[in-house]
Amino acid sequence: MKLAVIEGDGIGREVVPAAVEVLDVFGLEFEKVPLELGYARWERTGTAMSDEDIETIKGCDAVLFGAITTVPDPNYKSVLLTIRKELDLYANVRPVKPLPGIMGVTGRNDFDFVIVRENTEGLYSGIEEIGQDLSWTKRVVTRKGSERIAEYACKLAKQRKNKLTIVHKSNVLKSDKLFLDVCRQVASAHGVEYSDMLVDSMAYSLMMHPERYDVVVTTNLFGDILSDMCAALVGSLGLVPSANIGENYAFFEPVHGSAPDIAGKGISNPLAAILCVKMLLEWMGKVKEASLIDGAISHVLENKLITPDLGGTVSTAEVGHAVAEYVKNALKT
Ligand code: IPM
Ligand code: MG
Repeated sequence: MKLAVIEGDGIGREVVPAAVEVLDVFGLEFEKVPLELGYARWERTGTAMSDEDIETIKGCDAVLFGAITTVPDPNYKSVLLTIRKELDLYANVRPVKPLPGIMGVTGRNDFDFVIVRENTEGLYSGIEEIGQDLSWTKRVVTRKGSERIAEYACKLAKQRKNKLTIVHKSNVLKSDKLFLDVCRQVASAHGVEYSDMLVDSMAYSLMMHPERYDVVVTTNLFGDILSDMCAALVGSLGLVPSANIGENYAFFEPVHGSAPDIAGKGISNPLAAILCVKMLLEWMGKVKEASLIDGAISHVLENKLITPDLGGTVSTAEVGHAVAEYVKNALKT
């Protein structure tokens, strides 16, 4: 198994080493391929990612990614979006699950749902024109794109509570009618219980009644926005992982960004990146190993081995060591 490791910029350089330390403890057969991509590289060389890098990434089976600062150049194309497109990573999967002892903004922990975000089209089509007096971006919804994300979401729902919520804005965006219709058809075909919500009322409902949801499927930008909002339900952006899934490839990244304001201080929370390792192990079918990470995270949280975003004083690296140490001991028993 070949794993590209992309720390990227800012806190990506702190949280990824912590996550890799945890991954290494399992002693699995990984060939790690480190790649330096992003803003720092762009500043040094004028390129954030080359065609050759994309080929190297394609030659791997999966990617563990930190975060990349957006390059301040109007012609710059996001590294992350380029990789998603080049590898056709069509499903962005973002579990929203409370962690032991951590209360988010709503003070509740009775929810457990997954946002499945279409990851290749919608308002991220890249088809746009920027002018002095008129700028526009084309919002693309295709039957194929909607079908495959709905399929993914329904398969996931069947492994969970068999409940799907389709989030859209088809009262205004007529393009969403296709998305809604296709999702309904696919859910019916799978025998998945489904309902739909307009994205604005969904935002409210997720804050008021997060316990109602199981699998939430939506278009690209809505999924982007709702997933950051839902990080507040969990308690910190530093606690939510995500997986970008394609046909035979997967790319794991924390939902948080490169956080230049706290970068280099060693205070960033590595738990989202460590939960990405858990998602990687699950994707590989290593369910037992993945569950050890849950145990390790409960252990660090219960023992207040936590970073300042959660009210602690422990460093990024120390949290990483503590999780790795717990897994090491659990593997011995
Ligand atoms: C995310 C990020 C990206 C997105 C940005 C960095 C391009 O916000 O993964 O949610 O918009 O998809
Ligand atoms: Mg986002």
